[in-house]
Order: sequence, then structure tokens, then C-alpha cells
Amino acid sequence: MNSPFFVLINIIAAALNSLTGQIFHLPERTTVDIIKEAFYPDETHIVQTEDNYILTLHRIPHCRNNSVAPKGPILLMHGLLQSSADWLVLGEKSLGFILADAGYDVWLGNSRGNTYSKAHVNLNPLLDAKSFFDFSYHEMGKYDLPAVIDYILNATGTSKIPYVGYSEGTTQFWVMMSERPEYNDKISQANFWAPVTNMYRITSIPINALAAMGGIETLARAIGKYELFSHFTTGNSIRVICQNADWLCTEFFNLIGSSLERMPNKALKTKILENFPAGISFKQLFHYVQGTRSGVFRPFDYGTEKNLEIYKKPMPDPYNISRTTIPVFMYYGGSDIYINNEILINEVANEMQHVTVDLIPYENFNHLDFMYSTNADWLSSKTLENLNLA
Ligand SMILES: *[C@@H]1O[C@H](CO)[C@@H](O)[C@H](O)[C@H]1NC(C)=O
Ligand SMILES: *[C@@H]1O[C@H](CO)[C@@H](O)[C@H](O)[C@H]1NC(C)=O
Ligand SMILES: *[C@@H]1O[C@H](CO)[C@@H](O)[C@H](O)[C@H]1NC(C)=O
Repeated sequence: MNSPFFVLINIIAAALNSLTGQIFHLPERTTVDIIKEAFYPDETHIVQTEDNYILTLHRIPHCRNNSVAPKGPILLMHGLLQSSADWLVLGEKSLGFILADAGYDVWLGNSRGNTYSKAHVNLNPLLDAKSFFDFSYHEMGKYDLPAVIDYILNATGTSKIPYVGYSEGTTQFWVMMSERPEYNDKISQANFWAPVTNMYRITSIPINALAAMGGIETLARAIGKYELFSHFTTGNSIRVICQNADWLCTEFFNLIGSSLERMPNKALKTKILENFPAGISFKQLFHYVQGTRSGVFRPFDYGTEKNLEIYKKPMPDPYNISRTTIPVFMYYGGSDIYINNEILINEVANEMQHVTVDLIPYENFNHLDFMYSTNADWLSSKTLENLNLA
């Protein structure tokens, strides 16, 4: 991906947008629709964060006929560009439904800025885009996860819940524990699927290209680009491409992290694209890109001058991974384009006390295969096993 291409895609998308008039409508099939169509009970909850973002939590309170002994609440947090829907796209093989069938009260989070959490008490995401999208996974870890966890504990009268995070769902979890380690007391265990810290020396072509491009952040700011890949801009363009050219769609999925061996078929791609991509902030992507450049997992680097103002130091201290003291079960793939497995095993895991690290036993297992391939079964059964240990 290079910047002219990127700009072009967004221009096309914007044109499509104005033609179809779909700017703030929800996706044709929302998370709630997916839950209802599978005949599960559904609830929607709204959570306000300390810094006034308004988040949507989707909930499957129990299995279809409520016939299984209840196992208590659990929180699932999706990855970059995703939403709560991504825990359900594999139908009965999705972790969201598998957990409900096993008796769990399943809560599906939505990161700030995505389709379902694009709201704020006094900022309009369209008119105040610059302020609204001024966040990264730092704020998700520091404000969103704690607000969501407290909400679930209160709503269910529970003192601790287990957690499952995929990709950015793991990044923000580490941030939360580093910034607010008291949350270790509120989580019984965490299952990390494809855990991401700094993206240093990874093989993703788009991320490395962005890391190599010096001025792209400045350019984005200059053209007033604060939101990226929303459902109704880039999402519409990708849906058009995928409806008309499956081969190109396959190239796209491969580029962003599906292995060719486990490429979703056209029907599954269509289903995924009903909600994916769900939108992020430019800053969120650039926070990852900074980690690709520096190899350090730390808060956003604003440049020395602003860092001194905000952090009172020329560079913020790295996140403290060893503050995650609860048991963590980490799963990584052999060919994940966003993860440097050596760093994960030799550095990150070494800083944690209660951690097990497992390689997925399938060849060429890539990042999106965790969520969008039939081998996701393996992860779901491992996760269920771990939950039974608690
Ligand atoms: C109730 O639901 C469970 C899990 O969804 C299923 O295994 C069981 O067969 C159902 N029982 C009835 C009576 O429908
Ligand atoms: C806690 O839950 C109760 C009812 O379940 C609700 O009335 C109350 O507003 C909740 N408090 C917070 C802080 O969410
Ligand atoms: C990280 O946190 C641990 C546990 O709170 C503490 O012992 C350690 O000194 C911290 N490391 C740094 C570099 O601050």
C-alpha cells in the first residue's frame, strides 16, 4: 500500500458514500442481527468512559434454551479494524456462540471509534473528527477496558471475570494492566489470541511500508484524515471489490493476514465484510507503526517537545508488561505477519509470571486465521479447557 493508492481508495469511497447516502447507518446485518438469526438471546448495553466516550457492549446472556448450568460472565475483545461481530462470523464454530452453549454469559466489547462505539457525550465523530479520533489503544486500555469490566462486574454481581482478547484486544489489555494494575484483581484469567505488542521486525507489507514512509502522518493531518477504514468508506469499496472479483478479494485478505491455505471462501468473506472493517483512528494505526520503527511498546510518541509537556520526559517509559500478574494463556501462529514470535517468546513472555505460550499446531498459521478459519476450533477448545481450570 502506498500513499497515492491509499488516498485514491478513500476518494472513491467518499464518492460511493455520497452516492449511496450511507454515512451513519448501521451495517445491513449488525451484531444483534447475527445473534438473533442464530436464535440466541441478545442484549445491548451502553457504557460511558471516564473521558466521555460512549461504547456499545453486545451480550449473549445464555445459550438458546437456557438449559446449561450457568458459568458466569466472560468478556471478549476483538482486534484492530474489527467489532463484536467478528466473534460470531463463523456461525456455530464462533467462540461467541461456543461459550454461550457452554453456559457462559458472553459480553462482546466494541473498541472506541468502531461502528458500534462511534459516540461521545459532547464530540461529534463527523464534525469534531480531529478531537474525537484523537485516541489510540492507549486510551482503550486506560479508559475503555476498565469501564467495560466495571460495568459487567456491577451488572452481573460478580467480582472477577475471565477475558479473551485477540490482537489489539491483547495490546489494550497489557496497557490496562500497566496503567491500572489494580485490574488484576478483577480478571480471573486471560486468553490471548495472536498477542501484539510492538510489531518490531514483522513481515506485514502494509505496516512496513507505512513505517518506511516518513511524512505520512503529517500528510494525513494536512488533508484532515483522522478516521481510517470505516464501515461506510473503505468498507464499501472493499465490499464492491469482493462482490465482483473474488481473486482480488483473496489478494486483499492475504495482504492483511489470511493464509492462502485457510482463505475464507466467498460466502464467508461476504459475511466478514458485513461488519469488517469497522473503522479505527489514524493515531491508532500510527501508534503500532511507531512500535514497528522503535521496537518499543510504549505510549504514543508526539515528538520531544510535546512529550515533555505530556509525559514530562523526552520519551514516555515503555508499558510495564510484568504488571500483568494474572494467569495468561497465549497462542501464536507460525506465520503471523503482525507478530515477531522471537520477541513474544523470549522477551514479552519472560516478563510475565503466570504465562503459558503455545504455538498453533497448524502450518503457516497467519493472523486472521485465528478469527476467520475453521482451525479457529482448536483455539476455542483450548480456551474452554483453560476456562475450566479456573
Ligand atoms: C438446549 O440447548 C443446548 C445447547 O444449545 C442443546 O445442546 C440442547 O439439545 C437443547 N435442548 C433442548 C431441549 O432443546
Ligand atoms: C450497578 O448496577 C445497578 C443494577 O444492576 C444499577 O442500578 C447501577 O446504576 C449500576 N451502577 C453502575 C456504577 O453502573
Ligand atoms: C514494573 O512493574 C513491576 C511490578 O509492579 C515493578 O516491580 C517494576 O519495577 C516495574 N518496572 C519498571 C521498569 O518500572
